[in-house]
Amino acid sequence: MRKKLAAGNWKMNGLRASLSEVEALIAAHPSPSCEVLLCPPATLIAAMAQAADGKIFVGAQDCHMAGSGAHTGDISAAMIADAGAGHAILGHSERRADHGEDDAMVRAKTEAALSGGLVAVVCVGETEAQRDAGETLDVIDSQLTGSLPDHATAANTVIAYEPVWAIGTGRTPTLEQIAEVHDFMRKTLTARFGAEADGMRLLYGGSVKPSNAAEIFATSNVDGALVGGASLKAADFGAIIAAL
Ligand code: G3H
Repeated sequence: MRKKLAAGNWKMNGLRASLSEVEALIAAHPSPSCEVLLCPPATLIAAMAQAADGKIFVGAQDCHMAGSGAHTGDISAAMIADAGAGHAILGHSERRADHGEDDAMVRAKTEAALSGGLVAVVCVGETEAQRDAGETLDVIDSQLTGSLPDHATAANTVIAYEPVWAIGTGRTPTLEQIAEVHDFMRKTLTARFGAEADGMRLLYGGSVKPSNAAEIFATSNVDGALVGGASLKAADFGAIIAAL
């Protein structure tokens, strides 16, 4: 039985004052039935981990593939863990687009995260042009193959399917389209990882909000969500958690 996961990605949002949302979230949902993860900007990881007090998981939004060295502006798996986080998002489409991260880089970063003891949340997803061209499943297949290391397990790896065109747009795929991709991912992962793939959580991400969360969570092979904008406010994210 896969434990459901509600993950929030604050992206480049949040100052220390925003941690009141974390406190409000924990107060409103002291015993959620799912796992809850929040990934703030790197500047807030340590403070959020302190505010979370072990009641929710805290993660980073990226992790460099090297352990240390001359990489200005980057952070390593050990730094993330040292700040109190246990997860890292890798290969988000905004990293792929803004920082030129390809599958090989995502795989190297994921390997570094796993070696550092972090749980990796690895993102895949097609652009609108790729969907229109009928390439969605090929893109997902190739991103999964290229981005995941061979030692990915149910315990150390979560996959997030995020259609690029659904991120921050208010548009979502139909439930049938989400099911098609999630069923395909389960099949693809099973072909590579065998029975271990049964336990890997598959999140949907892209314009998840309180009003559409329940129907998305009821969709085949959806084990939770990776939420952007709606994770910033305790009321919205709390409603999504309650729908899981
Ligand atoms: O990582 C989160 C996703 O990119 C989804 O963002 O919920 O604002 O569409 P969104």
